[in-house]
Amino acid sequence: MSAPRPANRLRAGDVMGSAVFVLRLAWRADRGSLLVVLGVQLATAVGVAGVLLLVRGLAGDAVTLGRGQAGAGGGTGRIIPVIAAMVALRSVGGILRAAATARQRVLAVRLDRHVTDLVLGAATRAELPHFEDAAFHDRLQRAVFASRGQPVVVITTLVAVAQAVLTGAAVSVAFLAMAWWLLPFAAVSALPTLRAAHAERNASYGLSHDLAENRRVRQYLERLMTGRDEAKEVRALGLGPLLRERWHGRYAEEVDGTVRTQRRHLRRKAVARLAGDAVVVAVIGAVWWLMDARLVDLPTALAALTGLWLLSTRVQMVGGLLGNVGDSILYLKDLRAFAGPSVAAAPAGGEGPAVFASLEARGLRFRYPGSAAPVLNGVDVAFRQGEIIALVGGNGSGKTTLAKILAGLYPPESGTLLLNGAPVDDPARLRETSAVVFQDFVRYRLPVLDNIAFGRPGQAADPDRAAGSARRAGADAFVERLPRGYGTVLSKEFRDGEDLSGGQWQRLALARAFYRDAPFVILDEPTAALDPQAEEELFGRMRELFAGRTVLLISHRFSSVRGADRIYVLDGGSVVEHGTHEQLMGRRGRYAAMFLTQAAAYLDAETAVT
Ligand SMILES: Nc1ncnc2c1ncn2[C@@H]1O[C@H](COP(=O)(O)OP(=O)(O)O)[C@@H](O)[C@H]1O
Ligand SMILES: [Mg+2]
Repeated sequence: MSAPRPANRLRAGDVMGSAVFVLRLAWRADRGSLLVVLGVQLATAVGVAGVLLLVRGLAGDAVTLGRGQAGAGGGTGRIIPVIAAMVALRSVGGILRAAATARQRVLAVRLDRHVTDLVLGAATRAELPHFEDAAFHDRLQRAVFASRGQPVVVITTLVAVAQAVLTGAAVSVAFLAMAWWLLPFAAVSALPTLRAAHAERNASYGLSHDLAENRRVRQYLERLMTGRDEAKEVRALGLGPLLRERWHGRYAEEVDGTVRTQRRHLRRKAVARLAGDAVVVAVIGAVWWLMDARLVDLPTALAALTGLWLLSTRVQMVGGLLGNVGDSILYLKDLRAFAGPSVAAAPAGGEGPAVFASLEARGLRFRYPGSAAPVLNGVDVAFRQGEIIALVGGNGSGKTTLAKILAGLYPPESGTLLLNGAPVDDPARLRETSAVVFQDFVRYRLPVLDNIAFGRPGQAADPDRAAGSARRAGADAFVERLPRGYGTVLSKEFRDGEDLSGGQWQRLALARAFYRDAPFVILDEPTAALDPQAEEELFGRMRELFAGRTVLLISHRFSSVRGADRIYVLDGGSVVEHGTHEQLMGRRGRYAAMFLTQAAAYLDAETAVT
């Protein structure tokens, strides 16, 4: 293992900071329960101190009785009320603790909801570039999955620690009244345990930190082995055993790391325990000696030793609890970083289509976060209202990347974007203006209506408008044949769910874009899964279907592209040619070469058939 990096070490303020953070969360989630739970801990602590004082009184009476110094009734007369008081304290304490446990459960559920909601809020607000960053995924994954329940662990720990500390304090106060000179010894006996807890916390924090990516890879492998989308290919290839083997390999790292750190913990704890107990034994010996020398009376000695016992038990408890929160603190740190302002962005607004007269990009340069080479290298493109513009180019030439920038999902590294002639200062403006059908659009495993109406999430889903959008996308016929029409859930994973063919899914994605009704439509290879007839029909009716809109069409089918008002040819991240089909053919450049290659392939196929 490499030397510990600063990032996987806890800092001094982390523990306190996390405690305060969790208390604030709990306060916001359910302050009533928090107050009840903490109040009961306080009451319990006071009760324990009371019992200690009663023990001293009782022991005093017993000693007096034993020596036969009191009258027959005098001593027992005090013992009975004292015992009655102790029993009463016990009953009340038991009921209060039951109430606290009940409220703690409620607090746990509310806290879980509150915290998960914070994470989901931050995750859905995060801008797309964050999703290119492995560190972000580590934090997100830990925040979403692992921290589920962690705040509850911490609050439970805090409550237990509070109880132990309060009891310790109350016992110390009782001590002060009886044998103040024992306090420093009690404090010394606590030190080894607290030091061991500190070391354990650091070690488990470091381990969790180092394993974060490992766990993410494992989760991905698990998805490959259990996911429905992956099931057919994994079986066709017979990938199962290989995937499991990899998963085992990844898991071995976690098991080994856990065994190593737990062995170290055990050694440290055993040493701490022996050291702490040695102090306690020394103190017991000292008290014995003091009693022998008649410097302390028996009742005080008994009460003092009971107090020391209580105190050292509490210290061990606090030590154990604090040692276990290393992972939780890590998750909470991520949570705090997550819910912080750095990731937050303006929520996508957009109540309706914005005005769109033109969009122009000048000298766009872009590189993906963490990549060395730029993907776009000085791109100039322009779109005016009502135009159909095509973008062609080989795989990896930057077409999808350009689409994402024009749709306001990535800010360009340099260059200018002009919307209606004015520089775009907020990418959210571009998102409001555009509707994108991505090459790898999402297949929502939800009802058909959702799949379409998600195009405009700001408004209530409108079934008529959805049906209209489906009609324009050519999706109406197959949707109406589904058993529950627009209410059919599109996944076999859910009861009464149905599934669609690739082309049908693509039509739904198109319907979603129609439903969005944005003035600037980006279609990234929107017909890759459609049959030739459907594609022909879509492109043939494009001007009618998108009347008044501006369309950016990315396609490899030159038969579809040739009707565009203007064609941009992208190569290696730059526009190498642009113009109408006729102009580009006349240039006999890159476009003409690509067009002729494809046309020749079709002609060959035709001659082969005839
Ligand atoms: N998220 C990403 N992170 C890093 N590089 C990427 C990412 N997406 C695409 N690329 C790279 O950017 C280049 C252009 O990709 P893309 O715009 O998808 O091309 P096209 O759509 O023209 O096929 C490719 O070399 C690809 O490897
Ligand atoms: Mg692409």
